[in-house]
Amino acid sequence: MWFGHCHSRHAGDDRERRPLRVKRSKTAGVSNETWSDIAGWYDALVEAGSGPHETALQCLLGLVPGMDGQAVLDVGCGQGLATRAVAEAGAARVVGTDSSEAMIGHARGHGGEATYVVDDAQRLARFGDREFDGVTCQLALMDIPDLDATLAAVRRVLRDGGWFVFVIGHPCFLVPDALPAQAADGRPAVTVTGYFDERFWRSKNPNGVRRVGNHHRTLTTYLNSLVRHGFALEEVAEPRTENHVPLYAEVPIFFAARVRAERR
Ligand SMILES: C[S@@+](CC[C@H](N)C(=O)[O-])C[C@H]1O[C@@H](n2cnc3c(N)ncnc32)[C@H](O)[C@@H]1O
Repeated sequence: MWFGHCHSRHAGDDRERRPLRVKRSKTAGVSNETWSDIAGWYDALVEAGSGPHETALQCLLGLVPGMDGQAVLDVGCGQGLATRAVAEAGAARVVGTDSSEAMIGHARGHGGEATYVVDDAQRLARFGDREFDGVTCQLALMDIPDLDATLAAVRRVLRDGGWFVFVIGHPCFLVPDALPAQAADGRPAVTVTGYFDERFWRSKNPNGVRRVGNHHRTLTTYLNSLVRHGFALEEVAEPRTENHVPLYAEVPIFFAARVRAERR
């Protein structure tokens, strides 16, 4: 019901396969729901066991460094899936933050060692300079409007030498107008167009997370923004998975990286 679900028929929604030149209305059938509107639905989706979320979490945990004694902030924490996992991995102090009060309510409801704070990732105004050793951000950077402001805020709350691990929907394959396809040998494939057209878009899939909307950006934008905000690339990951949709054994569903805050 999510990124993976969408891609089983289409990269972004539940449209039938059809030629690329067919024109579609840009607004008909598009949801105007917010993250708070779908918080209960999202919590139930994650708690029921979601393949894409499991893949994202494995990816995230594979990139975080040792947790002993670490103070970690989980940005865009939603109902706290990654926050709880980071706390269970042994971090000394874990805080989850999200702009949706409803999401934070669900996160608190799941208990655990982490604490939760409502805040906007584009400012992180509730947190001090250099307060954390590490920041995680699972499946949220593409949901936040201002990437530069978010990376500046993440850099500010990190100590020099601190780490930032993020997982995003793969910007090369989860492109708004991507369409399902099939290779000559029958393997699942995806047709990508409009990659360079950075924009906010909402999936028409009424059962998909991306009906709330997200910001399509090129991989270049992500990587150059990280460099501009003083992060050095250490390791990247593009998970290959068969745990939800066959397409994602052919092309990656996510892009993830660990970057390091360089000395100011
Ligand atoms: C796809 S959910 C991911 C939640 C969680 N990290 C997970 O892996 O399940 C995206 C989250 O980003 C949050 N979000 C969107 N814009 C935000 C902002 N400006 N500041 C903080 N959180 C934001 C949403 O409220 C939502 O909880």
